[in-house]
Amino acid sequence: MQATLPLHLGVDRQARESVTEQIGAGLRAAIVDGRLAPGARLPSWRDLASQLGVARGTVRAAYESLIDAQLIVASGAAGTHVARRVPAQPRGAPATATAVRDPFGDYPHTDGVFQMGVPAQDAFPAKVWSRILARAARTAASAVPRYPDPRGEPSLRAEIAAYLAVARGMACSPAQVFVTGGHAAGVALAVRALGITGTAWTEDPGYLPTRGVLASLGIAPVPVPVDIDGLDVAAGIAIAPHAAMAMVTPGQQAPTGVTLSPARRRALLDWAAATDAWVVEDDYLSELQLQGRAAPSLAATDTAGRVLHVGTFSKTISPTLRLGFLVVPEAQVPRFDEAAAPLGGAPAPLLQHAVAEFLHDGHQLRHLRRMKRLYAQRRDALIASLRTMQVEHRTTGLAVLLRLPPGTDDTAIAREARLHGLAPVPLSPWYAAPQPVHTGLLLNAANVREHEAAAQCGRLMALVDRMRGEPPPTRNQAQASPSADTAAGVSRMLTPRRL
Ligand SMILES: Cc1ncc(COP(=O)(O)O)c(C=O)c1O
Repeated sequence: MQATLPLHLGVDRQARESVTEQIGAGLRAAIVDGRLAPGARLPSWRDLASQLGVARGTVRAAYESLIDAQLIVASGAAGTHVARRVPAQPRGAPATATAVRDPFGDYPHTDGVFQMGVPAQDAFPAKVWSRILARAARTAASAVPRYPDPRGEPSLRAEIAAYLAVARGMACSPAQVFVTGGHAAGVALAVRALGITGTAWTEDPGYLPTRGVLASLGIAPVPVPVDIDGLDVAAGIAIAPHAAMAMVTPGQQAPTGVTLSPARRRALLDWAAATDAWVVEDDYLSELQLQGRAAPSLAATDTAGRVLHVGTFSKTISPTLRLGFLVVPEAQVPRFDEAAAPLGGAPAPLLQHAVAEFLHDGHQLRHLRRMKRLYAQRRDALIASLRTMQVEHRTTGLAVLLRLPPGTDDTAIAREARLHGLAPVPLSPWYAAPQPVHTGLLLNAANVREHEAAAQCGRLMALVDRMRGEPPPTRNQAQASPSADTAAGVSRMLTPRRL
């Protein structure tokens, strides 16, 4: 008779090995192949014995053999844990670390200088936020258990509607706001609620996960070029006039940072109204625009009820919240009311209540105001460093796009950079069909302090030159500044200005 744990520890009383040996071998295998990570807590003898239906002494003997082998450590009342450093095993496979995935790629390390898509860590009002979170957690712990509203908590829906009125000039009621788990969940809800099928325009270059989420919903992405005025609507009409929807980042196009021009906005809304197409406005940066006033949201000017507005708290509070929202045209509210529940509903009410309080008490707007100033300073410092190093670059939203000489393998450089604690994001994968000229690195300035900018740019450019096999620099600046000289190789091959 076999008893199993999630680790697939099996006990076979007919086997030649003793039960103690079987438990010991099962745990050893799990530790060696990484299913039980260094530091992981093991169940107590009593719990494991009861789950396996064996005597406590049997489990204890198995644990003792693993302690002798230095694979696990017993720490009295603190429990028994897998050793932090597992000694090399004679025949075992090495423990494998899973690469961390984020929307920007699949890399060995995601934390690093220039990391894209994350807000400044040091400027976040952590004290206020933890107080609000703790209060929300206390309230949740003593609340009567109930199934929450799948459309989102009423308090947060109301706060988001009020916030959008002030920050994005949108006139929407709380009933039009649906709380989601972020960008992909918002798009999925829109597609399901409206029964969208067929093809969708996607920006080229554009945010990679958009193509992924559409494909997962059975919608074929049709790349439409982006130029200095944003999505080329005329090109979209020429390529796929009967697309069911268009996915756009009108405020600050991802990754170029350009704003969709007024003429293009009109053309896009006219096309949608004329063909009954839907426009999904990805307003991921909200009013976080560093130069001048934020471009208005497309939804605010939509009189035909064709725009779905997708927002997120990832850039303003934290991507770890997994909290976003979708604002739908008034006439479509009943369809979304129906569609929200089968998709699993909104994230944990506890988090929603905390964010609602953060908005209600004005922390969000205050924080945004401070971030705009700070990001502008940090971005300017980054730009100044790149300029000194004569590296071709342009600002793109909150990031800076560093141009590389055509043909440079930006993905290989980004991968190598991760191993050195740097996290630039390669440009070429943002294109549906990358050309040699579409090569560059996106650098987020939000977490690079001004006094560190030159040194970090220097490290990056040294790596770029090394990867490109550039000879050592010969210019005068080379003696003056180690960061300036590293740019010499790249600056030799500057190309005409590109988008
Ligand atoms: C273009 C774009 N849209 C949306 C998002 C945010 O997605 P989410 O709400 O899932 O965090 C990002 C994040 O970096 C983004 O770059």
